[in-house]
Amino acid sequence: LENGVARTPPMGWNSWNTFGCNINESLIRQMADAIVNSGLRDLGYQYVVVDDCWFNPNRDSSGNIQGDPSRFPSGMKALGDYLHNKGLKFGIYQVPVDKTCAQYFNSYPGATGSQGHEAQDARQFAAWGVDYLKYDWCSPNGTINDQVATFAKMRDALKATGRPIVYSINPNSIHSKTGPQRNWGDVANMWRTTEDITNKWDTGQTNGYPMGIQNIVNVTVPLASYAGPGHFNDPDMMEIGRGGMNDTEMRSHFALWAMMASPLIAGNDIRSMDSATQTILKNKNLIAINQDSLGLQATQVSNDGTRRVLAKKLANGDVAVALFNQGGSTTTVSTTTSAIGKSGGTVTLTDAWTNATSTTSGTISASVPAHGTVVYRVSSPGSSPSASPSASPSVSPSVS
Ligand code: GLA
Repeated sequence: LENGVARTPPMGWNSWNTFGCNINESLIRQMADAIVNSGLRDLGYQYVVVDDCWFNPNRDSSGNIQGDPSRFPSGMKALGDYLHNKGLKFGIYQVPVDKTCAQYFNSYPGATGSQGHEAQDARQFAAWGVDYLKYDWCSPNGTINDQVATFAKMRDALKATGRPIVYSINPNSIHSKTGPQRNWGDVANMWRTTEDITNKWDTGQTNGYPMGIQNIVNVTVPLASYAGPGHFNDPDMMEIGRGGMNDTEMRSHFALWAMMASPLIAGNDIRSMDSATQTILKNKNLIAINQDSLGLQATQVSNDGTRRVLAKKLANGDVAVALFNQGGSTTTVSTTTSAIGKSGGTVTLTDAWTNATSTTSGTISASVPAHGTVVYRVSSPGSSPSASPSASPSVSPSVS
């Protein structure tokens, strides 16, 4: 969507994976403080997204959507101000149709959907200082044309507010899985490609609930051509640091999200990250690959079912290559410079995890542990510097 925002994949944190409906303003403020103090903000993680269950189940007498006064006693505008004062941005969750997923599944009270209130709700969000709307179709009903029309209404309502707001949609939760059937770049800045992620490597799902990392990669890799500045496939919020995967798998998860130009939305408790989690979420080489200004998603070079190779072109002429072992034991994963478009001489490979460098004029390969991903940044001699993130956000606190 050409609305001026999300020129590179949005980065931030979302409350849902760890906290579900157990959210309130002090938790969100603590998380914002932790995002700043841990250094994540300065690496680009700027959107703090308050997911489901933030609202009052009843609109006010004028039909305005309201925050839940018991969970957010200072009000939603005050929360937005708090985040902006920290140099962060404010994200919020809402649904078009009828009920949020918590209302639909978890008997959370009310039915607060924006349908018929689009302009009013968009104005309310803008007045609160919202910078990012996650708009989640949580109804089994409706055709894909209904979805397009309904998501487009909120797109237009957000635009009419004049406030730049990242528009994140989910056409693929309990609804039939329309994401893989459609390029949503005309409607939104990012769109979920699958059912909800879970804290596991592989659930055996194709695109049903819940999805493991491997399963989401299988659906999202073929959608590479949809991605570009302003419009990205969204393989869902990350499960790094949540305990359901080993260190190799968590590194793979981050490396693959980086390669797929996926939004990097952390889902763990930032207040209590262990050092392995910090090392992963703060990997500057992978963040730079993810935030590259070309905004391209890696395309598949090869996949024999076990060994999968992806390549992502970067703005300075480098190519990032991922050597992904989908199998259950260590194996060598290989490709060539010509297969990734870097033939014609010696190139330097910089390992995104270790910073170790090596050179090759042909084979690119690595021994990769089970479920692991080795990422090399491949540069020609004399290419411009590559290892620093290209998209350091402005971090000066500002109220807007
Ligand atoms: C859906 C979405 C999740 C989360 C929940 C909240 O399942 O896909 O990401 O927002 O709703 O209820």
